[in-house]
Amino acid sequence: MTDPPSTQRTVSFFGGKGGVGKTTLAASYALLLAGRGHRTLVVSTDPAHSLGDVLAVPLGDEPAELSGGLWACEIDGESVARRRVEQVSREAQEAVPREVLPAVEQHLQRAAASPGTVESALVDRLTDLLDEVPARWDRIVVDSAPTGHMLRLLSLPTLLTPWIEGLVRQREQVRGTERMLSGLLGRADTGQDPLLQRLHGRRSRLERTRRRLLDESAVHLVLVPERLPLAETERAAQALADGGLTLGSVAVNRVAPSDATGLLADRARREAEVRATIRQRFGDHGVVEVPLLRGELTARSELAEVAEHLASAGW
Ligand SMILES: Nc1ncnc2c1ncn2[C@@H]1O[C@H](COP(=O)(O)OP(=O)(O)O)[C@@H](O)[C@H]1O
Ligand SMILES: [Mg+2]
Repeated sequence: MTDPPSTQRTVSFFGGKGGVGKTTLAASYALLLAGRGHRTLVVSTDPAHSLGDVLAVPLGDEPAELSGGLWACEIDGESVARRRVEQVSREAQEAVPREVLPAVEQHLQRAAASPGTVESALVDRLTDLLDEVPARWDRIVVDSAPTGHMLRLLSLPTLLTPWIEGLVRQREQVRGTERMLSGLLGRADTGQDPLLQRLHGRRSRLERTRRRLLDESAVHLVLVPERLPLAETERAAQALADGGLTLGSVAVNRVAPSDATGLLADRARREAEVRATIRQRFGDHGVVEVPLLRGELTARSELAEVAEHLASAGW
């Protein structure tokens, strides 16, 4: 069996340097999918959100339906992390003996401020949204943060797996000791361990997301036809391959018109060389070119124009 074309995958990430056109292409592609009758969610995971600006609607954490079959939201990792810490803190008040509560609170406050927490909250929220396929959505389009940030997000479920396995093992050992002590003291052990159940739950959630990222997602890399973005795209493609993730198509955005005159003609000549290298290097994955357009690209008609270029390249 051959792999399905990457544009058939359920989840499409758009990655690349800042300013190359990730948000524009993600929004256009989502419009294209929705227009074809797929219930589509486009979600921004870039802390510097601009999806709402491009779609000309205010967006929040909860998906809002914009038009028939198209939903959009912007995940704010920090507020998700804050809410999660508050929730754990509430649960701890009921589950943990009063004398250890201050220590637990202190730990939670420290955890809330640590850099990994915000990203892991982002993964958590993304997991919620991915879990709503196929009940609520057929396709998910992710407008990602610039490359390094996106790659960390994508690798997090894999990185966190051994960590959570370690926590599960530690907890199981503690439970073993607790049970033994209960036995020695002649006390009944109910066998219930909410903490262990929670850890098992998190482990299976993480594993599900990891599999979804590996098996059901493709990462489309966006670049403009210049040398530096090309070098970054090469590195990103390698990082995706190393992580077992699927590189989708490569989208070359803002291509200068070939019939340009003056300054733009110089650009077009220089771009031609880089475009040839891109085709050579990524032709197997499918290269789509989107011309430099006139407008600000926030009107639906302009996004539709971008979408037409994607469609004509077989997306
Ligand atoms: N093909 C294009 N032609 C002209 N302007 C474009 C094109 N694609 C994107 N832009 C403009 O470039 C800017 C950056 O695009 P954006 O999608 O926000 O990039 P990113 O999400 O990668 O940071 C925006 O002002 C957008 O309107
Ligand atoms: Mg963007």
